[in-house]
Amino acid sequence: SQASNSARVLMLLLSLLIMIRTCELQGLWRNELGSNMTISALDASGTFSGSYQTAVAATNKQILVSPLQGAQQPPGNKGHQPTFGFTVQWQFAGMTVVFIPLCFMDRRGKEMLEMAWLLREEVPTRKDSWKAIRVGTSVFTRVK
Ligand SMILES: *[C@@H]1O[C@H](CO)[C@@H](O)[C@H](O)[C@H]1NC(C)=O
Repeated sequence: SQASNSARVLMLLLSLLIMIRTCELQGLWRNELGSNMTISALDASGTFSGSYQTAVAATNKQILVSPLQGAQQPPGNKGHQPTFGFTVQWQFAGMTVVFIPLCFMDRRGKEMLEMAWLLREEVPTRKDSWKAIRVGTSVFTRVK
């Protein structure tokens, strides 16, 4: 029927719109472990700051909210999400973590940050350096 055809065209247009929409980094995000991350508005050059509250830490020190600093590439190919990265200083534990996420949007426009991360831990000697690095992945979804 005419009505269901119009509905189909509308759905198609909506999915096309979502396909070319890029993720908005600013906001509050949470991962599968319950860690929270807040990202500020990006400035004109694509840099941003924020805070990271981890739910887990490879230390028994008390976890504190930690500052993050990052930058995003300018928009590239249409329909591609620009790459970006940020660093979190876990000052309470003497650790630095670099995150390289990529944002993806499903057909409903729900954003997901597929993260890879590398963590560096302080150690007393160079001999211990080999064990002072961790690598992992994580998925963040928008809370608000
Ligand atoms: C993340 O935020 C939620 C809601 O405010 C809170 O319940 C939870 O404890 C927070 N997670 C961490 C690791 O602080």
